[in-house]
Amino acid sequence: VKESIDLVAEIARLKKEKNAVILAHYYQVAEIQDIADYIGDSLGLSQQAAKTDAEMIVFAGVRFMAETAKILSPQKKVVLPDMNAGCSLEESAPADEFAAFKAQHPDHIVISYVNCSAALKTLTDVVCTSSNAVKIVESFPKDQKIIFAPDKNLGGYINRVTGRDMVLWDGACMVHETFSGKMIQDLKAKHPNAQVVAHPESEQPVLQLADYIGSTTGLLKHVINSPEKEFIVATESGILHQMRKAAPEKKFIVAPTAKNGHACIACSDCPHMKLNTMEKLYLCLRDETPEIVLPMDVIEAARRPIERMLELSA
Ligand code: 13P
Ligand code: SF4
Repeated sequence: VKESIDLVAEIARLKKEKNAVILAHYYQVAEIQDIADYIGDSLGLSQQAAKTDAEMIVFAGVRFMAETAKILSPQKKVVLPDMNAGCSLEESAPADEFAAFKAQHPDHIVISYVNCSAALKTLTDVVCTSSNAVKIVESFPKDQKIIFAPDKNLGGYINRVTGRDMVLWDGACMVHETFSGKMIQDLKAKHPNAQVVAHPESEQPVLQLADYIGSTTGLLKHVINSPEKEFIVATESGILHQMRKAAPEKKFIVAPTAKNGHACIACSDCPHMKLNTMEKLYLCLRDETPEIVLPMDVIEAARRPIERMLELSA
């Protein structure tokens, strides 16, 4: 791309010309969030994808999110700035291994976190996101046997909140599992008035310290509406852009991260989410590629559990 090109203006022009909409997740870089038509958490983004009347969806997020948009709006063209934008949770649960695991639990239903492949969704009874997971699990009778995949941290959190004993698949988010409970505790000692807010993909020692636990939209709403003035934020650092915009008078600190006991710089950035850049966004809108393409039978089979989720969270 020529250096002289005004990416913001060109993106706006192409969007209009092609009747395209830009949907962005809160973990995208600030410039992408600022040009998006809609910014949201996974549930909000899938609701937007289902109802948009645009002809093309430019999905500034990761592959499983763009696939969910395609599954809900198969007649639309869905493009993703970088097709390599995956997710460690998705990678942790290959569909063939999961099918064998499911076969070992024939009397269980499957609730899957939306952070998984389209193939895994075809093996699922109902999908959930972090904002509706508790509600979806609670929609089943207490004695219903459930497999929850692929996030063991979110699953463990739901088990504790609901008093259930769901069987958990052994997956985790590579970003949220680096937040360090010990380091957050030390930071809290230095900032005694700071509230800790955490995403439920975080591990239990972190969640135990949290004053509020929620999806990205939940965390954003909480920090805006809370009378508190200072927050330690245990989720991907991209969300701080909206927090600072909405409440510039408040102080937001990214929760410290550690790997193998050592402090870890930039570990609160998701390497998948951060593959997307303004330049790649412009190119995918201009060239209409890389495009999400899924077999029709996968789309049909994966749509049922996603639509069931949308009905249950309406
Ligand atoms: P939500 O935005 O739905 O809370 O999801 C967080 C996340 O990790 C998405 O990859
Ligand atoms: Fe996946 Fe975690 Fe990145 Fe979200 S933040 S896309 S769950 S690796």
